[in-house]
Amino acid sequence: MLSRHGGAGGWAMTWQATALTLFPDMFPGMLGHSLAGRALERGIWSVDARDMREYGLGRHRVVDDTPFGGGAGMVMRPDVVASAIADIDLAGRPLVYPTPRGRRLMQADIRRYAAGPGVVVLCGRYEGVDERVLEASGAEQVSIGDYVLSGGEVAATVLLDACVRLLPGVMGSGESAVEESFSDGLLEYPLYTKPAQWDGRDVPEVLLSGHHAAIAKWRRAASETVTQARRPDLWAAYRAGTGQDISRTAGPRADADRLN
Ligand code: ADE
Repeated sequence: MLSRHGGAGGWAMTWQATALTLFPDMFPGMLGHSLAGRALERGIWSVDARDMREYGLGRHRVVDDTPFGGGAGMVMRPDVVASAIADIDLAGRPLVYPTPRGRRLMQADIRRYAAGPGVVVLCGRYEGVDERVLEASGAEQVSIGDYVLSGGEVAATVLLDACVRLLPGVMGSGESAVEESFSDGLLEYPLYTKPAQWDGRDVPEVLLSGHHAAIAKWRRAASETVTQARRPDLWAAYRAGTGQDISRTAGPRADADRLN
């Protein structure tokens, strides 16, 4: 299952994503377009969507049942999910289960996933997956935010998109993975382009000045202002010197991040 792709820097391993899902047609979905889509075509990454229905029980391929203890909705059966997982060659990849009950997915997690051989994402449907198979498989449970989606596929797409853009060769010189929100624990400064005057609104004067040091200073101040106003949690961590992921210590991929 190992594959490689060729690029300017020679041959590299393909970053491999597997999605365990009841809706395999949802992949690559949006990831078949734009930046991720071009990288997919070039073999920088691949996605294999496995239909968990194939592991369902009986003629009707049943994958779910009612929750013990009562309550609304259905729960995905541990035996079915375990069969689907057992059929995959993890090949050193983490098994990730997106769920609103997970710890928050951070850019540091994304860097860790992107630096490895790929990920396997278990996409839950209905009310979720039986806890025992999550425990037994050692799945990393992550949430993409404090809201509830109708299934794990959208969250998996978010996770994969965030990983793929960090893979070497995905971002051209026109895109930057470095000066962006979260790379130093602050939100990004505001962006402006032509025209310099639009609808009675001017671009901040300093950005037209050509003074690189002055521009950098203005951007830093703007980043701090917007972070303080919108994200008191990030601001507190930044002020305490514990802002996330400043050092980019993720290994070889960290260099690729910086160069891209
Ligand atoms: N599945 C449903 N809601 C989710 C969320 N907020 N994050 C991750 N996975 C989910």
